[in-house]
Amino acid sequence: MKKLKLIGPFKQLVTMTGLPLKGALSDEQLTIVEDAGILIEEGNIKAIGLFKNMVLNVDHTTTEITRLEGDHVCLPGFIDAHTHICFGGSRAKDYAMRNAGKTYLEIAKAGGGIWDTVTQTRKASTEELIKKIIKRTKQHLKNGVTTLEVKSGYGLSVTEELKMLRAIKSSNAQTPLDLIPTCLAAHMKPKDFMGTNTAYLKEISNTLFPILKEENLSNRIDAFIEESAFSKEEIRPYFEKAKEMDFDITVHADQFSTGGSAIAVEFGAISADHLEASTDKEIELLSKSNVIATALPGASLGLGCAFTPARKLLDAGCAVAIASDHNPGSAPMGDLLTQAAILQTFEKLSNAEVLAGITYRAAAALNVSDRGQLKEGLLADFVLFHTSDYHKILYNQGSFKPCMVFKNGALIFDKHKTS
Ligand code: NIG
Ligand code: FE
Repeated sequence: MKKLKLIGPFKQLVTMTGLPLKGALSDEQLTIVEDAGILIEEGNIKAIGLFKNMVLNVDHTTTEITRLEGDHVCLPGFIDAHTHICFGGSRAKDYAMRNAGKTYLEIAKAGGGIWDTVTQTRKASTEELIKKIIKRTKQHLKNGVTTLEVKSGYGLSVTEELKMLRAIKSSNAQTPLDLIPTCLAAHMKPKDFMGTNTAYLKEISNTLFPILKEENLSNRIDAFIEESAFSKEEIRPYFEKAKEMDFDITVHADQFSTGGSAIAVEFGAISADHLEASTDKEIELLSKSNVIATALPGASLGLGCAFTPARKLLDAGCAVAIASDHNPGSAPMGDLLTQAAILQTFEKLSNAEVLAGITYRAAAALNVSDRGQLKEGLLADFVLFHTSDYHKILYNQGSFKPCMVFKNGALIFDKHKTS
């Protein structure tokens, strides 16, 4: 096997480099290399340049050259920074009830809601969960996703959360995508826990947190701050413990009521996700912090409610990532590109802002710096679309799918080779 790989030519290679982490972006700010090639060494990008010249300059005895036919646009592999794809069962009944006008409470009384998924996930074996995760990652891969965050949060006991996080870890070893695990044991207090919310969180932080470290299961702690889940006051000691133990913090914030974003800022969280209910006050607070604001249009589409105010957040100077929130309850679609394109039209976002939200700004939401842009030294994760014009990608609102996806320099999805 040859040591280096050269792939090209790409009609347009959108690098997503040289752009600010925070604030509004215009398409004119994008760096587009025309007729480009990518040189890859051991899974990393070694060089980007004019393909024609690169072919002349590389050593043909050590470089394998892949020459593409037709026009292609090349983008960094997409990063979905918020999902809940480790779950058993389905919530199709909830969805129908919601669309028939039933309230959250009525649905919960009829046995639906997060607790329903907890019950079904607890029934599933580790092997069953692994199978389901792998199946779902394939769906994301076809949409160009090369890095996918996956939360626990449907176990809600030390044992069951461990089962989920071990399943996510095993799945990561069995899929070509990178899965980044997050502990969401603070999704809600389980109905079978006989103490207070505070007692539940204490048990989790005292017992589960050390095991997460020992088994290297996750370095991210998430919590749902909401009237139906945990209050700011209840979460403070939990996050203090997480910080003491050097976990990164992320928050389900301001989904139905405000409060979570202030906690995210107070604790220096990496990201605050949802923010559908954020008002000017929360937007200002976030804009003065380094917290990434992650919009989840899939949850707005699933629940039929307002979108995250992405335009206002960007104009205020926030860094906005966009993620699918793929979960069985509020966001069953699981199609990041479609959702990002829909958010674009409702929130009036530039192509650059949307693409930033699913590439380098999403990488920042996961606190990873080795991906999300196409430049020397970063992972060779990239996605190709059969077109000569990158505008066509979002213009087609997600129905235009990638033709090839590369992870660490290896071709992991080729549309022509699948049925
Ligand atoms: O991100 N908001 C809380 N958690 C999930 C929904 C989980 C569920 O309904 O199962 C979310 O939307
Ligand atoms: Fe979520």
